[in-house]
Amino acid sequence: TRIYVPGDAGAVALGADKVAKALADALERRGVDAQIVRNGSRGMFWLEPLVEVVTPSGRVGYGPVKARDVETLLDAGLLDGKGDALRLGDVEQIQFFAKQERFTFKRVGLTDPVSLDDYRAHGGYKGLERAIELGAAATVEEVFDSGLRGRGGAGFPTGIKWRTVAQCPPGQKYIVCNADEGDSGTFADRMIMEGDPFQLIEGMTIAGLAVGATKGYVYCRSEYPHAVAVMNRAIKVARMAGYLGRSVAGSDYAFDMEVRVGAGAYVCGEETSLLESLEGRRGLVRAKPPLPAHKGLFGKPTVINNVISLASVPFILAEGAKAYAEVGFGRSRGTMPIQLAGNVKYGGLYEIAFGVTLGELVDEVGGGTFTGRPVRAVQVGGPLGAYFPRSYFDTPFDYEAFAKRDGLIGHGGIVVFDDNVDMVEQARFAMEFCAIESCGKCTPCRIGSTRGVEMLDQVIAGGAGRERALTIVEDLCHTMKLGSLCALGGFTPYPVMSAITHFPEDFGRGPAMLA
Ligand code: NAI
Ligand code: SF4
Repeated sequence: TRIYVPGDAGAVALGADKVAKALADALERRGVDAQIVRNGSRGMFWLEPLVEVVTPSGRVGYGPVKARDVETLLDAGLLDGKGDALRLGDVEQIQFFAKQERFTFKRVGLTDPVSLDDYRAHGGYKGLERAIELGAAATVEEVFDSGLRGRGGAGFPTGIKWRTVAQCPPGQKYIVCNADEGDSGTFADRMIMEGDPFQLIEGMTIAGLAVGATKGYVYCRSEYPHAVAVMNRAIKVARMAGYLGRSVAGSDYAFDMEVRVGAGAYVCGEETSLLESLEGRRGLVRAKPPLPAHKGLFGKPTVINNVISLASVPFILAEGAKAYAEVGFGRSRGTMPIQLAGNVKYGGLYEIAFGVTLGELVDEVGGGTFTGRPVRAVQVGGPLGAYFPRSYFDTPFDYEAFAKRDGLIGHGGIVVFDDNVDMVEQARFAMEFCAIESCGKCTPCRIGSTRGVEMLDQVIAGGAGRERALTIVEDLCHTMKLGSLCALGGFTPYPVMSAITHFPEDFGRGPAMLA
């Protein structure tokens, strides 16, 4: 018998390690020969720890399971898929899961993350095999044709980025994976690294083959120790099996990679400060140009892509660009792993084609707020994303549609707030976050954010100076937006200005005139 207990950090935070231990102890006491596999999470965090048992009629889920439930569950027939109140049946039939289009997350939670056999049995390394067959140039074109855009937040076409690096003269080139997932309410990168690490390894290997890079680095945030451990194990397994090294999968291509751990700075998720950090220096943002694609790591042409961008590539190569490009909305092709967090009833990871509306995601998929109170605001795209009111719930999930409404989808994180939220406090938080995380290189961000906090404190204090302080905040936002060197200072105005625009009553102004 195979029993799955997630080793995903989210599930572990909810007690999965304790459940796995209680289960192992109980099975030993009962003399039952069963294998406990620590899988990734299925992405339904309200059900974690979610235990799954393999039965002749399929996998049966139970959740949320606590260590103290284990004996009762075993007594009730867990090993045969029978059970009590915690029995969920076939996990893939749960509505939240069944309605998804899982391209990138198809194996997460299903397989043993560090078993190469399991990976291959579920379609793993088919993409690399096809890339080897196609050769470098055609692989770049396949990625271009898929319409894949950078999933870190900027949405820049991945194929164009790869082309730029491929067209640089031959010599040392690098693939750098940005796994410094710093956006609040996001966890898709972490789930891939913990739940399907070979997919990222395969994606990076394909990128290396395509652009002529032989070395890759995963720059992972220090807050993700589980991901670092799983990635390191998987890299070793892939190397031992000949999927990394001088002759990748028996081909003429060489590629190897390693994981480097950051030191807790949000700005190191910005690509040029990430490169500085990777080179061993303080994470200060570099001015662009030169683009990293021309002059990146150690001054060499470098592809820097987010985890999800790279993890999307094996599917594109295995199934073909068309299969990927076929779904989506406007210029946003393929699927997006959306992360529902904050005050939401059903929080978790929801992978779906672009085009689903914000309202569907929050009200239907997420089930509204956890507290049961009305949703007042949602922040999309991390701490630099705009706050949208309910009147914007018809916005389709799409880079351009969000930009048109002065917002961004960023890395796909949605944080939900109920009607208790104080939007002045949220605006102040955005400015304070920027002040704390600013690398200090440029004045609009370094000084502007600190002045912004002071002015918002005056707004909060109320009184005669409030409107003047608010006008200065608006002025600062204008300067930061246009004058900052990178997205940290340049995008902080989004949450601040959206809070002022959509929730003016919290700032002592008249109610919003927006529909
Ligand atoms: P950007 O628009 O400057 O660049 C996007 C990417 O395209 C970069 O890798 C850049 O080097 C590349 N690029 C641009 N022109 C190119 C060309 N002609 N040839 C080849 N490559 C080219 O945006 P940036 O500053 O890299 O990212 C900003 C985004 O980061 C924001 O939209 C925000 O949503 C997101 N973000 C994500 C976070 C996360 O945790 N994932 C955290 C903070 C921000
Ligand atoms: Fe540094 Fe802020 Fe300027 Fe970015 S905007 S370069 S984080 S000071």
